[in-house]
Amino acid sequence: MTASPVRPVIIAANWKMNTTPAGAGGLAADIAAATNIPGVIRVICPPFVCLEVVGRALAGSGVAIGAQNVHAEQAGAYTGEIAAAMLAGLASWCIVGHSERRRDQGEDDIQVARKLARCAEHGLRPILCVGEQLADRQAGRAEATVRRQLEQTVAELRRLGQALPADLVVAYEPVWAIGTGLTARGSDASAMARLIRKTLGAAGSATPGAVPVLYGGSVTSSTIGEFLAEPELDGALVGGASLKVEEMAGIVARAGMTAAGRDAVGSGGGGGR
Ligand code: PGA
Repeated sequence: MTASPVRPVIIAANWKMNTTPAGAGGLAADIAAATNIPGVIRVICPPFVCLEVVGRALAGSGVAIGAQNVHAEQAGAYTGEIAAAMLAGLASWCIVGHSERRRDQGEDDIQVARKLARCAEHGLRPILCVGEQLADRQAGRAEATVRRQLEQTVAELRRLGQALPADLVVAYEPVWAIGTGLTARGSDASAMARLIRKTLGAAGSATPGAVPVLYGGSVTSSTIGEFLAEPELDGALVGGASLKVEEMAGIVARAGMTAAGRDAVGSGGGGGR
């Protein structure tokens, strides 16, 4: 029997439309200093206009920088938009298909797939966001919704002649939990992570068991433990709390415990390999 892969633990900060170039570097540096814990992959995703200053502030810190979005096309007449090629040297990760963009900009799975393709072409590691609305969960359609989002995305990628990016990260973010103070139950998020990997496997991913799945939706230093107690979950995409140094310190400290546990298993301490 093959052992399941030891997945990395990832904490990604989504600053959304917060911070300015004047303040972002200081905040990023403070977060980096407060979260320097071995084994946890840290990513900060500031607004586009703060990428450069955050990059300078984080140089040598080990914290990676991500964009919050990228355009689906390579270049052209798209006023106000940012193409993947423009992010060279500024970001190495990219959030794709966040529910706020699906809601406010009408992004659909077709565009999301094209954005994933742009990320793959330009060496951006994508964090693909999926998740159901409250009405979907109440009607028992949560899993079907997430499955459909993934299947449609993969189908469009296939139409474009592209495979799923090999370094794909998926964030399960129930829409009703984002910025509301409500969170999913750890067990529900874990079930969804299983479904996500199963769906990716059925859709042609060669190594679905190796795809990190993060939870997102009102994660704080007090709620992170419930999610990281679930072996199927590999970290979090953090919004509101990611603007607070103390919160990030607590979240990454808890993630460090999970990373240390996995490391012990991975190196034979727990007999896992
Ligand atoms: P939140 O946002 O932590 O503020 O709920 C999470 C997200 O939108 O990624």
